[in-house]
Amino acid sequence: MRALSTALFLTIAFVACKKSGNEEAGKGGGSGQAPSSKQLTIGFAQVGAESAWRTAETGSIRAEADKRKVNLKFSDAQGKQENQITAVRGIIAQGVDAIILAPVVETGWEPVLIEAKQAKIPVVLVDRGIKTSDESLYATLIASDFVAEGKMAAEWMAKKLGGKAAIVELQGTPGSAPAIDRKKGFEEGLKAHPEMKIIASQSGDFRRSNGKEVMEALLKKHGKEITAVYAHNDDMALGAIQAIEESGAKPGTDVIVVSVDGTKDAFTAMVDGKLNASVECNPLLGPMAFDAAEKAIKGETLPKRQVVQDQLFDTANAKDVIATRQY
Ligand code: AHR
Repeated sequence: MRALSTALFLTIAFVACKKSGNEEAGKGGGSGQAPSSKQLTIGFAQVGAESAWRTAETGSIRAEADKRKVNLKFSDAQGKQENQITAVRGIIAQGVDAIILAPVVETGWEPVLIEAKQAKIPVVLVDRGIKTSDESLYATLIASDFVAEGKMAAEWMAKKLGGKAAIVELQGTPGSAPAIDRKKGFEEGLKAHPEMKIIASQSGDFRRSNGKEVMEALLKKHGKEITAVYAHNDDMALGAIQAIEESGAKPGTDVIVVSVDGTKDAFTAMVDGKLNASVECNPLLGPMAFDAAEKAIKGETLPKRQVVQDQLFDTANAKDVIATRQY
């Protein structure tokens, strides 16, 4: 009985202490001043494990949590927004100090983010942005510029193919920020090249197996008409490369393949001459994410957008760089 009432007292004291701290901070979506000795508990709501990029991002967040001795509450939504919303609700209920969220899709986040705000738990968005009219629902977004990535891919492809191509586009997860923005950026980049035409565009959900399946179907439909593939990530490009090879054509030569991410496997494919170019998208966001979370917990106001810088690699420089790749 005594143990039970002690536990009850401690729980009430913890909630009260957290609440009063939060009220003091009152800015930037942040909670109260965390005592420096207190171990932080931070939730990470991850999309899933659909690609090598995603696995690298999870590894980076986990490694940084270990380094900082943060108690990390990890959840994997298996690519489904409803799972992720449930996970965020569960994380809020655990009374965490902050939430790191990599949102599956752009829309539909307001209700759960309002719940986080009401609980005075700051939310740091990593990798993918959301659509909301209320920017106070999150502390900051740390992500690459996906539009710029798409543009870089288009410009490289147009140069490589002399401004003329019949392109197949493999899109990422429908409704996700990288799928929407990489498509937009690619189309913007093609505007100056009227003979660079997208003849088919389909989702492969950022997965290698789907990239292969979609490419097989498109090869059946369009055959030799296809001169280039633009894939929204490396995994789908690698699946497409397999499909092209199985059709008897040479990826990288008969069909030019350009993608996004810059993973180790993509570098190997570039060194082998099967993938022509990959625009890097850095997934090693752990250090920036925890820096942001710690600042938000202290009540500091953060810039709403922190852009991760990327660059394009191709068959000309892949072999010089491959040994230094970390993911
Ligand atoms: O949001 C980033 C994208 O998601 C990566 O490009 C892709 O590989 C991933 O699954």
